[in-house]
Amino acid sequence: MRTRITSLFGIEKPIICAGMSDVATPELAAAVSNAGGLGIINLTTLPPSQAKQAIDKVRALTERPFGVNMTQLLPSAKENINIAIDAKVPVINTAFGKCDWYRDKVHAYGGKVLVTTSTLKHALAAQDQGADAIIATSYEAAAHAGEIGAMALIPAIRDRVSIPIIAAGGIADGRGLIAAFALGADAVSMGTRFMVSKESGAHANAIQATLDTDVMGTLRSKNYDGVPVRAISTPFSRKMAQRKPSLLTMLYRAQQYASATQSDIKPLLREFPQNIKTLLALSWLGHGLFYLVRGISGGDLETGIHTAGQSLGIIRNIESAADIVDNIMNEAANVQQSFSFSVDP
Ligand SMILES: Cc1cc2nc3c(=O)[nH]c(=O)nc-3n(C[C@H](O)[C@H](O)[C@H](O)COP(=O)(O)O)c2cc1C
Repeated sequence: MRTRITSLFGIEKPIICAGMSDVATPELAAAVSNAGGLGIINLTTLPPSQAKQAIDKVRALTERPFGVNMTQLLPSAKENINIAIDAKVPVINTAFGKCDWYRDKVHAYGGKVLVTTSTLKHALAAQDQGADAIIATSYEAAAHAGEIGAMALIPAIRDRVSIPIIAAGGIADGRGLIAAFALGADAVSMGTRFMVSKESGAHANAIQATLDTDVMGTLRSKNYDGVPVRAISTPFSRKMAQRKPSLLTMLYRAQQYASATQSDIKPLLREFPQNIKTLLALSWLGHGLFYLVRGISGGDLETGIHTAGQSLGIIRNIESAADIVDNIMNEAANVQQSFSFSVDP
């Protein structure tokens, strides 16, 4: 199937596996790329020393295009982006922050720049800065979910932005793929659906909790990491959502997260006391990551947070990434054929 995204990335199917931290492992990303979609690994939470290894691992598992994702808020993001550029990764996907500083370097080797957004303003800014495509993340999404539902967000961005759009949030089957096309998207990116896959890096408890939760069972709160995050609603996630952590708690958890993941916390501490705003933002993010790692990789939902989107309401089983891609394409074809009406204006 050809859409503007399949042509841009040189892939066969308009399905992207979101660059989920600790979940979108090289195995999962490569499996999605081998199935004809685009797999994206997450380098945000990897120290630069491990970023190149992760890229090499994907390359060992697939010859097809793949991507890397980085949240530009973290101190190591710039270094990891440069590592990915040096390795000529086909698709560089960044969230939070501009792409104009690295865009030309990516285009020089024929790579593509993919910017994750959740607002019209940021979608327009990404286009102005030379992004090749955007991911538009709606309210239904897992983790950093937007403010606006896909039904309103995707067409509003489509009306104002000319570059291809990938819809993210609430999509987990062929119905969602067809709906996304109808709204003006050129492809879909799915997180929660691929988190519940055989190749997923998520802990078995986290996967089971996703299967056991219905469409009403998530919440969205800014109090985990400073940006609204959608997660499975549990007694612990509800308690944490009730109030903002103190700066001391944030710093303590960020430090714990940094030492557990071998991240370097020194750039964070250097922000103090000149730039208290950045210190607050980074330590809050580290605080959130501490609890997310506990929930997603550790499978501890009693004292950890497990990000999942509202699409969990339609996910019933653990499939291989290849089956997920094939089933969605088959369902989409059936949905398209099953319309028993024609629209007569
Ligand atoms: C377990 C999990 C971890 C995630 N981690 C990240 C991340 O580190 N960076 C990021 O940009 N998005 C992350 N996401 C969000 C996805 O990129 C994507 O926006 C979202 O999953 C799309 O909505 P969906 O879950 O309804 O498909 C994560 C999603 C999940 C389910």
